[in-house]
Amino acid sequence: MPQWNDLFLALPVSENVLDALLFISFGLHLLFVLLMLGTAMLGLALFLHALLHNNTAQQPWNSHLVHSHLGLKSLAVVLGVAPLLVMQVRYSYAFFTTTGLFSYSWLAIIPLLILAFLLIDAFGHKLTGNALLAFVCGMLGVGALMTVPAVFTGALALMERPQLWPVFAAAGFGPQAPPALHWLLRYLHVLGAALVLGAAFHLFFSTKDQPRKALMLRRWLWWSLLAQLVLGLGLLLTVRTSWNGPVLTSLAVGVLATLGVLLVLRRTGRRTAPPALLALLPVVFAAMLTGRQLLQDAALAPMHDTAVAAREARAAALAPFSQKALENFALKLRTVYDNGDTIYDGACAPCHGLDGRGQGPE
Ligand code: HEC
Repeated sequence: MPQWNDLFLALPVSENVLDALLFISFGLHLLFVLLMLGTAMLGLALFLHALLHNNTAQQPWNSHLVHSHLGLKSLAVVLGVAPLLVMQVRYSYAFFTTTGLFSYSWLAIIPLLILAFLLIDAFGHKLTGNALLAFVCGMLGVGALMTVPAVFTGALALMERPQLWPVFAAAGFGPQAPPALHWLLRYLHVLGAALVLGAAFHLFFSTKDQPRKALMLRRWLWWSLLAQLVLGLGLLLTVRTSWNGPVLTSLAVGVLATLGVLLVLRRTGRRTAPPALLALLPVVFAAMLTGRQLLQDAALAPMHDTAVAAREARAAALAPFSQKALENFALKLRTVYDNGDTIYDGACAPCHGLDGRGQGPE
């Protein structure tokens, strides 16, 4: 028997395969999104810091850092297509309802991304030359880029709360739909994760022969990890209703690995990139991603179950008629409409009646 999505359309492959595809493709997408976003935010912060302290000697390295944005961005965007497509097939009803409700903000992602990518490119190019132009491009570009996760987290927060769809449809954005505190913490948690991964990435790949940079990136990593612990705890409290064993277990693994990273940062030489992080950070990422997915599944499952139950009830109610309907259909297929009697019986008699007195069954 085929499996169905929540719009009663047969799924091309089983739900489990789609879930696995979604998890893997979204994980890859998110990884590069966070690296890209983190790189952009760090690049802007370091540029502003050097600008304020009139420290032009720092800007070439900052420019080098911002230039890695291009490759990360390309991968983030390309890898975003797969989860978007899988989501549409797996959760058609919830996904299309929410993107429809979010319509303007959802479409705003297109100009926002175009603006962000062009301006951040310009920011990277002007960084060492024209400080004023770099400032304008950097602020606007990174600002536009940081708006995109706000839209995505808002749309997903609404998608996971079907009871709020009518509220949102009637009143639009408000503290109720999507719930403001959850949305804010979820958004900040994404920004924090971007800083964590961005700082870790550049600690490993951009600090060759740059011990002072390594020290500074370790500080960014340290503080953004601490911020993530606080924000994550707050975020977890906003989704109390979806707590279950697997969710809490995977998040606990993530927290433990995070504490491990903090410990390693404490214990290792201050100017190096500790190799242990290459094992611990992927654990943090995978555990948090699993926790996130389990929370989303828990939120979407009741709606999906209701849809499947409704479909099954309807299929059961129609079952007694299906044999007769199939026979009638087969008969229709065999009928040759090449004479008046047949045409009249098939096309006119339902209204006009077999004797033409207007007493047909219709
Ligand atoms: C959906 C129902 C329906 C079907 C199917 C239908 N008819 Fe009719 N037909 C009507 C109705 C209702 C009238 C009367 C319209 C009026 O008086 O304004 C009518 C009027 C007519 C009239 C005019 C009769 C008169 O005395 O003025 C003719 C002729 C006619 N239909 C022929 C046909 C033929 C031939 C077919 C099949 C090819 C056909 N109809 C299929 C509903 C139907």
